[in-house]
Amino acid sequence: MSKKILVTGGAGYIGSVLVRDLLNKGYYVRVFDSLYFGEESLSDLKNSPNFELIQGDMQNVDNFPNLLDGVEGVIHLAGLSNDPSCDLDSYYTKKINVDASKKLVVMCKEKGVKRFLFSSSCSVYGTGITTQLDENSPKAPVSLYAKTKLEFENILLEMMGENFYPTILRNGTVFGYSPKMRFDLIVNLMTKHAIKDKKVFVLGGGKQWRPNVHVKDVSKAFIKCLEAPIEKVKGEVFNVGSNDLNFQVCEVAEKVGSIINDVKIEHPPSDRDNRDYNVNFDKINQVLGYTTEFKIEDGIKEIEKNILNGSMGDLEDIKYYSIKTIKELLNKPAIITGKPIRSSFLPFALPLITEDEEKEVLDTLRSGWLTTGPKTKIFEEKLKKYAGAKYAIALNSCTGALHLSLLALGIKLGDEVITTPLTFAATANVIVHVGAKPVFVDINKDTLNIDPKKIEEKITSKTKAIIPVHLAGQPCDMDEIHRIARKYNLKVIEDAAHAIGAEYKNQKIGSMSDTVCFSFYPIKNITTGEGGAVLTNNEELAEKIRILSLHGISSDAWKRYMKDGEPSVWHLIEPGFKYNMTDLQASLGIHQIDKLDHFLDIRKSYANVYEKEFSNFKGIILSKKIDDIKHAYHLFPIVLDTDELIINRDEFINAMKKENIGTGVHFPSLISGYYSNTYGYKEEDFPNVTFVSKRIVSLPLYPKMNVEDIRSVVDATKKIISYYRK
Ligand SMILES: Cc1ncc(COP(=O)(O)O)c(C=O)c1O
Repeated sequence: MSKKILVTGGAGYIGSVLVRDLLNKGYYVRVFDSLYFGEESLSDLKNSPNFELIQGDMQNVDNFPNLLDGVEGVIHLAGLSNDPSCDLDSYYTKKINVDASKKLVVMCKEKGVKRFLFSSSCSVYGTGITTQLDENSPKAPVSLYAKTKLEFENILLEMMGENFYPTILRNGTVFGYSPKMRFDLIVNLMTKHAIKDKKVFVLGGGKQWRPNVHVKDVSKAFIKCLEAPIEKVKGEVFNVGSNDLNFQVCEVAEKVGSIINDVKIEHPPSDRDNRDYNVNFDKINQVLGYTTEFKIEDGIKEIEKNILNGSMGDLEDIKYYSIKTIKELLNKPAIITGKPIRSSFLPFALPLITEDEEKEVLDTLRSGWLTTGPKTKIFEEKLKKYAGAKYAIALNSCTGALHLSLLALGIKLGDEVITTPLTFAATANVIVHVGAKPVFVDINKDTLNIDPKKIEEKITSKTKAIIPVHLAGQPCDMDEIHRIARKYNLKVIEDAAHAIGAEYKNQKIGSMSDTVCFSFYPIKNITTGEGGAVLTNNEELAEKIRILSLHGISSDAWKRYMKDGEPSVWHLIEPGFKYNMTDLQASLGIHQIDKLDHFLDIRKSYANVYEKEFSNFKGIILSKKIDDIKHAYHLFPIVLDTDELIINRDEFINAMKKENIGTGVHFPSLISGYYSNTYGYKEEDFPNVTFVSKRIVSLPLYPKMNVEDIRSVVDATKKIISYYRK
């Protein structure tokens, strides 16, 4: 059976020559390539029985667990090449050229693939501190491209071990015809200009040295290494080229001019080219008996032939220029075939649960007490201490908290309760559940919270309460809301589902109103799986809510069933609900609340990045903060300025999904569906919420994200907005 070789980047400039040479020598070749430059370079090999093509991005190489099955050697060509392409996005370059390459090595080691040939570059010598640079000469890489090559070389040598024998091939500046042609390499580019424009441009002074090597000779070097006894090549570095092919750039231009007729050599003004390396190739010759076959002149002639026979079509096609293709790939949204910003999906939100919570849950499970009991009590103590309230009743949800608050405050059939239409359905639903009517007041377009200036005009004799919602974690203007409540004798129930940890005028959200309701749903600032709580300073209210939360009976199970508990006889005070929090849930909460301030710091630091990146970014409107508050940054909503864009919010969300980023909508307006049908609310009477809710989208923001995740969200958002700007 023929030896199976994996060639990463096998559809590329070197790869498409090497793959053919390997096949001709009887190898079985598996190619792993992103095909960002197309697959034409390999299309004629498709039916070859010894050829296999797997399309994939190196960043996700670990998503291909079978990639190395049966493989005896890897030739790793994949990566971003060419200096300006690598400079486009340094983060992306490092991810591909270093991090992704490392993943491949880990996979090789796991699968026992011993032979690993890495395609590096003589550009690691950079400014060429000495002449006739050999493999041990000092490295002085200039470009990021060369730096990443060198970084991975070092990693590779460090990772060498008993069953992993890497070899590094530092190629000279490659030239010549390849089925995947490049015209951004010096010989190739000069030849193209000479034929098309009758001009050759010498940039960077022209005195700088380059060690040239034909692409077929590079292929030959790889095969030579692959077939050499392992002792000769393991852990070795070889310069690939020939001493006779070191030329100054101006000499290369002269060679092109000597072959193509009537060519003018021009020296346009340009910056000095610091890349200047004259390389010695004795080692590969002495150790492996390797020599090159092709001269620069051969390359010029074969390129001339291929240009003149028209087989390459439009020579300005971006596929011939790495930077143009990569630029387009990076700038083009993934939804229209661009390259996704992220290789793996970033969910819109995730909780951050660690061993502390896991141990506590296990402890609870083993205790035998699963429902409301001692741990719920501890959580309630911590909650009220944290938020500065006298009483805290932990419940199974914020919805329950809002519902019981209304009931305990005596809101009933025929009453009206004022709230915002930019909120989760639960805020308004509970008003309906107690028989009252939700009366919506439009939002302030800047803060996204209920506009206090518009509250008074909605107050009638039936109005009994206001439910302000601290949207996204930004407190409402509570002074103004309390002023109005006092004036009209209204109760205030804060929907603080998003706002645990937030502060208003140096006071924690939690004790300023009749009741304050928190949510501990999985994506909230802290979580208990599902869960919520009511906080209040009013003892009577607290007692009522506690009783209503457990059927309306006089004592809870903990009190009834413990050894020294109350008699197991209970009596029903009024028909209540089953809204209690369990000890299993509280097991999470008692650790989450200890970490809350830390979580908030992370949220704030990430939100600061978003604010810095998106303020003054055309197409995005950021909400404004009011004075004297601490934002809890539960969400980071942006409003798309769709007047500036050719896409709408939902199209933006879909485009982000294709970049592998989840987003959320907080919220669709409640001036629609049930509430409009039932109460006759019309969009035009609520212009701000109508405008915002159709354009709002929340970006991921949670402590489990790392700074790279945040950066990827910024990059994807900017890419999509820039691409779809009018
Ligand atoms: C503003 C608001 N209020 C209330 C709730 C209801 O919270 P829970 O799911 O804990 O019942 C939510 C939940 O997302 C919310 O966002």
